[in-house]
Amino acid sequence: MSITILGIESSCDDTSAAVIRDGLLLSNVIAGQSVHEEYGGVVPELASRAHQQNIVPVVATALQRAGVDKHELSAIAFTRGPGLLGSLLVGTSFAKGMSLGLRCPIVDVNHLHGHVLSHFIKKTPDDVVPEYPYLCLLISGGNSQLILVRNYNDMEIIGRTIDDAAGEAFDKCAKVMGLPYPGGPFIDRLAAEGDATKFRFAKPRISGFDYSFSGLKTSFLYTLRDAVKTDAAFIEKNKADLAASLQRTIIEILLDKLDKAVKATGVTTVAIGGGVSANSGVRAAIAYYCKRRHLTAFIPERSFTTDNAAMVAIAGYFKYLDKQFCSYDQTPFARVTV
Ligand code: KG4
Repeated sequence: MSITILGIESSCDDTSAAVIRDGLLLSNVIAGQSVHEEYGGVVPELASRAHQQNIVPVVATALQRAGVDKHELSAIAFTRGPGLLGSLLVGTSFAKGMSLGLRCPIVDVNHLHGHVLSHFIKKTPDDVVPEYPYLCLLISGGNSQLILVRNYNDMEIIGRTIDDAAGEAFDKCAKVMGLPYPGGPFIDRLAAEGDATKFRFAKPRISGFDYSFSGLKTSFLYTLRDAVKTDAAFIEKNKADLAASLQRTIIEILLDKLDKAVKATGVTTVAIGGGVSANSGVRAAIAYYCKRRHLTAFIPERSFTTDNAAMVAIAGYFKYLDKQFCSYDQTPFARVTV
């Protein structure tokens, strides 16, 4: 019998619903929230209110586009965390209510597992998926992790950031340059026209597979501060070169630990995920690195790098296969606790 999962994602500022049947994506609807633009960052209270407005039409549209009646659902998967508590509450409560009404089980999903497993979302039955074990470099606005994935429900974080995440490094440096929030995509665009060797920024020297980006951020700030003292128009004149040099340094930091982890684990497959995996430089660098080392690379399509319910549905599908259901007394979690 077919397994049909409705996924619901509401961890930050995108309300999303998706339907997956036996691993095949039938629909993936995402409603963004423009209400935050004027504030230069996501305002949690506004985000949860927008989720409340969006969730009913988004779920209805996802079911309709999938051609699935709600009574056909095997389970409802929802993001339980990490994320903004108010936003998570909307998706969690909606999933619980809908499941009670339909008498189908709920499955709670760790948002980060969703990113890691996004490579298993199939658009056609012939799509190729990773073989276990593989290493996933998870790079987002809040996390930078190296995860050894032994199986779909068996993963181990072998490296993590000890301070800022890769996305934060992009966003905070972009902010100093006067770019809008989030700055990552703007740095990406500017970097394409810049000289990546013009500026040198600090790189961390920490042992193991852990990451650190705060030293880079500080050295970026000092470069700008010292230069602007003598030339007020410095940033404007050099913005493409600054962006390209920053991006190159972030990529070098990411690849350095990835390479160590590949050698230590002996994996032959590498995947990336999370918002920063949309970065053109990161994507090209990973593809090149894997080619050189004869590794198989899995680089997600851009629509699966940002928050989306398709990845929640696929992670929920795998938990459903292992009968890992969620009880109604489970509440959202803001930070990585599971
Ligand atoms: O995964 P995500 O949506 O957020 C978290 O759940 O944490 O990732 C958002 C992060 C932001 O820091 C954003 O600047 C970054 O991903 N990002 C990018 C690009 N697109 C998004 N960073 C660099 N280049 C991009 N093209």
